[in-house]
Amino acid sequence: MITEKLAEYAEMTEEALERYIPDMECLQRSVIEAVRYSLKAGGKRIRPALVMEFCRVCGGEPETALPVACAIEMMHTFSLIHDDLPCMDNDDMRRGKPSCHKAFGEANALLAGDALAILPAEIIAGAALKGTLSQTAALKIIALLGRQAGIFGMIGGQVIDTENVGKMLDTAVMLEMYRMKTGALLEFCCRAGCIAAEAGAAAQLAAGSYGQRLGLAFQIVDDILDVTADEKRLGKPVGSDAESGKFTYVGAVGLDNARSEAKRLTKEAEKYLDEFEDNEFLIGLTEMLLKRDY
Ligand code: IPE
Ligand code: IPE
Ligand code: MG
Ligand code: MG
Ligand code: MG
Repeated sequence: MITEKLAEYAEMTEEALERYIPDMECLQRSVIEAVRYSLKAGGKRIRPALVMEFCRVCGGEPETALPVACAIEMMHTFSLIHDDLPCMDNDDMRRGKPSCHKAFGEANALLAGDALAILPAEIIAGAALKGTLSQTAALKIIALLGRQAGIFGMIGGQVIDTENVGKMLDTAVMLEMYRMKTGALLEFCCRAGCIAAEAGAAAQLAAGSYGQRLGLAFQIVDDILDVTADEKRLGKPVGSDAESGKFTYVGAVGLDNARSEAKRLTKEAEKYLDEFEDNEFLIGLTEMLLKRDY
């Protein structure tokens, strides 16, 4: 049931993404191709699912949140394209295919990432102009997205990550970096879904607290998979962290302790879902993300 519903949300997202960025003949086609290549390469699509499901459990229609779901998948894909560049993690594979810069060159990858960082505000504002999302909700969501993706969120985390290559990090600093580089966008998904449904402050607070714990658990599991996963299944290089001198949570506390901490954070996250009725999919998804092998 969890995988079916996740697939349903993924299909809705992929159809809408195709409409937002159709293939077209134009002078700048190379960047459009690079954007479409990275967006269509697959991925688990958990961020769009979180956005639409939080909207649904708050009493809204998932379709209302669909533009926001596409927007966050774009922002996330931008973060992955830039994360793989030689100046960052220098990874040649992503989502089971050559990374964007391997397929289209560094300049196009840089620009495709830039495009995917800018489109989200345009799309969310567009939904408000069309009237499918309220103008107040759209403004709140755009402001939140800027905060969570920017220097106090994902980009801030990536800076700390990049600056500390080859260095041991204090665990508290490392977790703060994880909160920013990974947790901030996941927290956004949960809160934005509530905002799209025009839910009250209590729902948004619980969703945000859930998203923060989920984000930490998610990055710890990502670090574990960098050591333990099957590369074909993972779709990105295994051992990349060690190779690029990244000191991770696994390096700091060992595999067993990292697994226990991911489990503890997952349980802590799930408690916040008590705020929502009809939360079976969210609980199932949270468990699935802990146990995932890719
Ligand atoms: C990978 O995110 C980057 C991290 C934040 C750890 P995902 O594991 O969600 O990547 P896709 O979208 O499934 O490819
Ligand atoms: C991901 O951290 C954080 C991002 C903002 C992309 P990683 O560098 O561990 O992500 P992967 O393992 O390359 O997907
Ligand atoms: Mg990285
Ligand atoms: Mg990386
Ligand atoms: Mg990783």
